[in-house]
Amino acid sequence: MSTSADTLADMNRPALSIFAQSLLSGQSAVITGGGSGIGEGIAKALAAHGAKVGLIGRTPEKLARVASEIVKKNGHAIYRAVDVREYTDLERAITAMAIELGGVNILINSAAGNFLAPAASLSANGFRSVIDIDLCGTFNACRASFAHLSKRGGSIVSITATQASVPTPLQCHAGAAKAGIEKLTRDLALEWGGMGIRVNAVAPGPIDNTEGMTRLAPGGVEIALKKRVPIGRYGTIEEVSAAVLYLVSAAGTYITGSTLLIDGGTSLLGPGPFLDMMRGEL
Ligand code: HXC
Ligand code: NAP
Repeated sequence: MSTSADTLADMNRPALSIFAQSLLSGQSAVITGGGSGIGEGIAKALAAHGAKVGLIGRTPEKLARVASEIVKKNGHAIYRAVDVREYTDLERAITAMAIELGGVNILINSAAGNFLAPAASLSANGFRSVIDIDLCGTFNACRASFAHLSKRGGSIVSITATQASVPTPLQCHAGAAKAGIEKLTRDLALEWGGMGIRVNAVAPGPIDNTEGMTRLAPGGVEIALKKRVPIGRYGTIEEVSAAVLYLVSAAGTYITGSTLLIDGGTSLLGPGPFLDMMRGEL
């Protein structure tokens, strides 16, 4: 017989997909940052649920690996190596993908760059690079996809972060970029709602086995951060992907302009160990 503690543990354990395999059949998605980490996981989840996917990133080898893993599982995947900061190249790539995929009705913005840096020593170019990749790159992909998304209705989901709303030491560049994306999400939702395009974001907290956590929470920080997550563990790429599936699917058709937190409650407790890290106490 299961106890209430067992039931709670089960509820907190990441589940296999609860969505029908045909959830997105007949649909086509472009995923920036699809060559690794959370973007890769989302691309694989969309493909596993029937969508044709187009992957965008700068490194062709990373994109080729993900595309071939999707194809091996009978999915449909193509890729283009493009920097999201280069609007003309990006628009050309998305237009070519729309032709190959038979349209684009889903856009996922996952491309991003980040590193830990105190504002007092961060160079202007370091700040600008992160804003360019995250915020301008997201606008670029939305703008370049608009003609395709508006043809038969569509959905955009951008990956932000809890740093968008929680003031976080060593993260002023990424926090400003992600806050900008959340505002852009609301603005585009308002402008494009009448054209059949829903625009949402998801804000993950610490997600296991990602480049983001390798960069932001090395060694002792990881232990300190994990202890502070109310749910008691890091999240998984599958949990972020499940939230994205929900938003782009028919379950989410009245949701637009929202940012969904997927952080195990981490942001409820403020910046956590980043303040200790900045003070040199970790
Ligand atoms: C201080 C740094 C730095 C560091 C780079 N810069 N790394 N400054 N500390 N650790 C500065 C450089 O000195 C340079 O400024 C400027 O940033 C641009 O650096 P480049 O290497 O020339 O730029 P670029 O090739 O465009 O690389 C962008 C990048 C890089 C962000 C710096 O790390 C990258 O491409 N990352 C992609 C992968 C990634 O970051 N994944 C994690 C995403 S996770 P100067 O003045 O010297 O010219 C994530 C976590 C979630 O986002 C939480 C977010 C809120
Ligand atoms: P990641 O594996 O490094 O993913 C970022 C991807 O973006 C990479 O595949 C990278 O590939 C691509 N990219 C970077 N700059 C680009 C550019 N200029 N043009 C095109 N593509 C570019 O890191 P991740 O941790 O999975 O992060 C994925 C997303 O989740 C990001 O938006 C991040 O901010 C967000 N997030 C992550 C966490 C976390 O815990 N990891 C938490 C909150 C939010 P190339 O370098 O080959 O271009």
